[in-house]
Amino acid sequence: MTENKTKFDLQTLARVLALAKPHARIFIISGALAITLALLSAITPKIVNIMVDDYVMVKDMPGLFRMAGIFAAVVLVTVVFRYLFIYITGLLGQSVIKDLRVQTFQHITSLRMRYFDQTPIGKTTTRTINDIESINTIFTQGVITMIADVLGIFAILGFMLQSSWRLTLVCLTTLPLLILATYIFKEKVKKAYQKVRAHITSMNVFLQERISGMRVVQIFNAEEREMGKFKKINRDYTKANLDSILYYAIFFPVIEIIQYGTLAIMVWWGAKWFVEDSLTIGVLVAFPMYINRLYRPIRMLADKLNTIQMGLVAAERVFTVLDDRSIIADIGYKTLEKSDGNIEFKNVSFAYDEENYVLNDISFELNKHETLAIVGSTGSGKTTIINILNRFYDIQKGEILLDGVDVKKYKIDDLRKRISIVLQDVFLFTGTVLENITLKDPSISKEKVVEAATAIGAHDFIMNMPEGYDYVVSERGGNLSMGQRQLISFVRALVFDPDVLILDEATSSIDKETEGLIQYAIEKLIAKRSSIIIAHRLSTIRHADKIMVLDKGRLVEFGSHDELLAIEGGKFKELYELQFADLEFAE
Ligand SMILES: Nc1ncnc2c1ncn2[C@@H]1O[C@H](COP(=O)(O)OP(=O)(O)OP(=O)(O)O)[C@@H](O)[C@H]1O
Ligand SMILES: [Mg+2]
Repeated sequence: MTENKTKFDLQTLARVLALAKPHARIFIISGALAITLALLSAITPKIVNIMVDDYVMVKDMPGLFRMAGIFAAVVLVTVVFRYLFIYITGLLGQSVIKDLRVQTFQHITSLRMRYFDQTPIGKTTTRTINDIESINTIFTQGVITMIADVLGIFAILGFMLQSSWRLTLVCLTTLPLLILATYIFKEKVKKAYQKVRAHITSMNVFLQERISGMRVVQIFNAEEREMGKFKKINRDYTKANLDSILYYAIFFPVIEIIQYGTLAIMVWWGAKWFVEDSLTIGVLVAFPMYINRLYRPIRMLADKLNTIQMGLVAAERVFTVLDDRSIIADIGYKTLEKSDGNIEFKNVSFAYDEENYVLNDISFELNKHETLAIVGSTGSGKTTIINILNRFYDIQKGEILLDGVDVKKYKIDDLRKRISIVLQDVFLFTGTVLENITLKDPSISKEKVVEAATAIGAHDFIMNMPEGYDYVVSERGGNLSMGQRQLISFVRALVFDPDVLILDEATSSIDKETEGLIQYAIEKLIAKRSSIIIAHRLSTIRHADKIMVLDKGRLVEFGSHDELLAIEGGKFKELYELQFADLEFAE
C-alpha cells in the first residue's frame, strides 16, 4: 500500500516535472544555480577555518586581508546568485502553471455535459485555481531547492570530515533524534494539509452555489441557516490551518534545542581536543558555522517534503481532471459545410445515467425547411431531444441522422455550427450585448449582427437600451429582463446562420409588447430553415408543419395540428384544451 503510494507519487512527480519540458533552459539554469549556492554555503566556514589557522594565528595581516577579500567576494556572489535563483525558480513555476491553467481550461471546455451534471462548479474552480497554484510550489520551493539542499548537506559533511572526522562524528550523535523529530513533523503536517485542501474545496463549492443562488436564499429567509452552515465550514477550515501552524510551532523550537545540544557536545569535545593540542582553533571556530549550515537545510527539508507532497496531491487532482476522458468522442471525419436540414430519429433511446431511460424508442422525420413543434408535460423529455441532437450527450440505442448521415460521423464542430440552439434558460456572460451575440467570434462583424437583429425585429429594441449594442450585461444577464435576454439569444442564434434551428421556448410569460416582438422573431428565425421548437405558445404550434407529443419519454402522437386535434381522446387534444383553449377564445 505505502509502496504503491510512493510509486504513485513518483509517477505524479515525473509528470509534474515533465510539464517543465518547454522551459528546459530555465530549469537547467535554476538547477545549476541551486548547486552552486549549496557549495558556496559550505565554503564559507572553511574560509574562516583557514583565516584563523593560517593567518590570525601567525599574525599575517596582509594575508588576512586577502582572505577577507575572498570571503567578501564569496558572500557577494552568494547574494547575487540567491537573487537570481529565487527569481528564476519563480519564473519557472509561473511559466509551468500558466500553461497548465490553459491546458486545464481547454480540457474542461471539451468535457461532456455529464461531467458538469455531476461535478459542483466550485470543485472545478478549485482545481483550476488553488490546486494549480500549489503545483507552482513544487518548482519554487520544492524539487530543485531540495536537491540543492541535499547536495549542500553532503558538501558540508565533506568539509567537516576533512577538517576533523572525530568532531564530525561527535556532531552526528544527535542525528537520530533529528531524523525522528523531522519524520513525526512531516507526517503530522501532511495530514493537516490534506485537511486544509479538502476544506478549501468544500468552502469554494459552498460559496459558489450560495452566491449563484442568493435570490433563493433571501426569498426563503434562509440566510441564518446558510450562515450556520458557512460558520461550520469556516470553523473546520480554520481548525485545519491552526493544526498545521501548531505543528510548526512545536517543530522549530524542538529542532533548535537539538541544534544547541549538538553545539554543546561539539564545544565540549572540541575544547577538550584543542587543549590536548589535537585540534586547531580554526576548526573549533568553523564547526559552529558548519552545524548552523547543516541544520538549516535539514530543518527546511521536512517542510519542503511537505510542500512537494502537497503539490503532488494537488497535481494528482488536476491530473484527474485532465485524465477525465468523459469528453464527447469526436470520431467524426465528415465535414459539414452546409446542411439540408433533413433530420431523422431512428428508434432512439437515451438515459442520462445509462440506466433510467428518459427517451424510449423515438422515431420521426423532419424534412428540409419544415418546422417541428414538440409538446408534452414537464419532464417528458423535450429538452432531452435537443440535448442529444447536437451531441451534448450520446445516445445508447438507435440513430440520429442529419441529411441521411449519423450525426456521430460529422466533425463535432461542424455539426454544432450548422445547428443553433436557443436554450430554455438563456445564459448571458458579463460583457456587452454585442459580445454576447458574437461570443467574441472575430469572424462575425457588427454589420452582420445588426443585419440579423434587424431581420428578427430586435434592432430597435437593442438600440433603445442605454448604450445599444455596447450596453454592458451583468453576470448571467442580471440587469436584463427575461424577454430582453431571449431576444438577444435569438440574435445570437441567427448570426451563425444555421441550417437547423432549435428553440426551447421559455415558459415564463412576458409582457404583451415583448411577446409580440418574440413571436415575430420566432417566425423570422424559422423561415427558410429546418427548425425544432419546444413550444409553449399557441402561435408557435400553429406555425409548425408537424407536431410531436411526448409523454414520459415516449412519442405518443405525431402529425399536423389538424390531424392531432382530430384524434378523439388524444393527448394533444387534451393538452391543447388544457393550455390553449381559453387563449384561443381570448384571441
Ligand atoms: N442532466 C440531467 N441528468 C439526469 N437526468 C436529467 C437531466 N436532465 C433531465 N433529466 C431527466 O430527464 C427527464 C426529461 O427531462 P427534460 O429536461 O427533457 O424534460 P422537459 O420535457 O424538457 O421538461 P420541461 O418542460 O420542464 O422543460 C426528466 O425526468 C429529468 O429528471
Ligand atoms: Mg425542458
